[in-house]
Formats: sequence, structure tokens, C-alpha cells
Amino acid sequence: MSGPAGLTIVRDVAGLRTQVKAWRAAGRTIALVPTMGALHRGHIQLMETARAKADAVIATIFVNPTQFGPNEDFGAYPRQEGKDASLLTTAGVDALFAPSPSEMYPAGFATKVSVAGLTDVLCGPFRPGHFEGVATVVTKLLLQALPDVALFGEKDFQQLAVIKRFTADLDIPVKIIGVPTVREADGLAMSSRNAYLSAEERAIAPMLFAAISKAAAAISKGAEPAAAVSEAKDAVLRAGFRSVDYIEARRSDTLSVLKKGEDGGRVFAAAYLGRARLIDNVAVG
Ligand code: PAJ
Repeated sequence: MSGPAGLTIVRDVAGLRTQVKAWRAAGRTIALVPTMGALHRGHIQLMETARAKADAVIATIFVNPTQFGPNEDFGAYPRQEGKDASLLTTAGVDALFAPSPSEMYPAGFATKVSVAGLTDVLCGPFRPGHFEGVATVVTKLLLQALPDVALFGEKDFQQLAVIKRFTADLDIPVKIIGVPTVREADGLAMSSRNAYLSAEERAIAPMLFAAISKAAAAISKGAEPAAAVSEAKDAVLRAGFRSVDYIEARRSDTLSVLKKGEDGGRVFAAAYLGRARLIDNVAVG
């Protein structure tokens, strides 16, 4: 099936495999970029990086029900496939895989991919089952498309770490590439969930990045990580955020708590502004 000029839209796994087989026969390398749609410049940056890494690019759009908790925003999550397809065409993407829930999870589906350790911290305890849902759907997408490379954003740094872990652990033959966070001019990390913000909340939103950047700078100058992140938490609440799930300094590689003076740190945050749960992270130093 064809979408806007140049973009092939595929709805089922068999069709995806036929497309991939044809590209393989022609000697083309393949990049996969999984998304849940409502595409913004952050997603498009992944597509452009993918184009530079492989001969053919497959984007996927699937609002994955298994990674949303019962009280989360699965129903409200923005869906705009027509607009997304035009953006993907402009970005030079070759194929869009946009399966239905029943194509991904047919009756009788019973398997979960679960990653220990990395999912016990940060977003893990606040979103029970979330990373299992992500790991399961990304495993399926990787095995359906069997790409050479797959690209994910550092904006979801814990997700990226989890994906690197299970692809290594399960010997999935793909190279996982992380792409730096794309931000609005005022620093707010681009996110499909920014659409939930009122004008007033949108004006407050950049304070999250400002606060974690300040904490990261203080830590790189020798401040005690726990004190720096505690100050960031206060600043975010003072700015008008409703609540903070966490602001923490951890190691980028293992996600263990960062010690004073330790290299390779990152400050991670998740906080509610109105009904939007915003996450962000920034490297120390
Ligand atoms: P989604 O939130 O749509 O994000 C798709 C990809 O875009 C992810 O790899 C995410 O990290 C990346 N991304 C989002 N905002 C970004 C930004 N501002 N800069 C750079 N990259 C950004 O993450 C998911 O979907 C899902 O969990 C998914 C991996 C598709 C599994 O369902």
C-alpha cells in the first residue's frame, strides 16, 4: 500500500517482511525508527540520523497499549497518522509500518520481555509494567524488521539503556544508536506529551531543563549530588510543577546513584505539570 509520494505504508508483519526481503536482495542496509506517532522535530532528527546510517529507513507508528498503566494516557495519546505520514515523506523515510493492536497482539499473546535492575529505578517504580511493555514491543519490532541499526532518543535515556541491555542479552543482531535530545528554543525537550500543556503551563515547562542543567553544572564543579538535586526539586515545585516523581543524579552506564566526584553522571527528572508528566535528563560535565 502506498501513502504520500515515496512513502510505502505497511499494516502487517507479512508485508513488512516482503519489503525488507526486497531491500535485502538489492543489497540495501536497513534502519528502524520505532515511534508512537504525533511526530515532532525530535522524531524527525532520528529519521535523518537513520538516513545517514542506512540505505533504507523504516519508521514505525504504534501506540503500544502494553506500556501504558491503567490510569495513564493511552486513550488521550495524540493520534495523527495522515500528518505524520507527510512529515515522514518529507524526511525521506522509505516505509511506515503502522500495525493494528491485533496485528501486534493477536488473541492468545502471552509473552513478556522483562529487564531486571535497570528498570528498578527512576521511572520503573512510578510506572509498573511500563518497561516490560516497551521491551516486549521493541523486541517484536526488531524481530519483525531485522534491521541493521535501530535508533532511539536520549530523551528517554532509561528506555535507551533498557533496549541496549535486552538486545545484548538476547543476542538480537542489531546496532542500537542513541540520538541526543532535540529541544525547543527555550530548552524544553520536545515531546508528544507537550501537547497537553496549557499556554500558562507551557511557559513554566522549560524550568525542568533549567533546574536539572543547574544541578548538573553544580555537580560537575564538585557539589554533593544529593544536595544539588534537592535544590532542583525545590526550584521545579516553586516554578509551578504539581509534583515531582524524582530528580536524581545517577551514572549513565549502570543507572546506579552518582557519588560525589564520580565521572559519567547524568541528572534525571520526571515531574507533573498539570496533567502532563514531563521527563528529561542532562549529562554532568
Ligand atoms: P515515542 O515517545 O514516540 O518516541 C519515539 C522515539 O523518539 C524514542 O526513541 C524517543 O526517545 C525519541 N524522542 C522523543 N522525543 C525526543 C526528543 N526531543 N529528542 C530526541 N529523540 C526524541 O519512546 C517511544 O515512543 C516508545 O516507548 C517506543 C520506543 C516507540 C516503544 O513503543
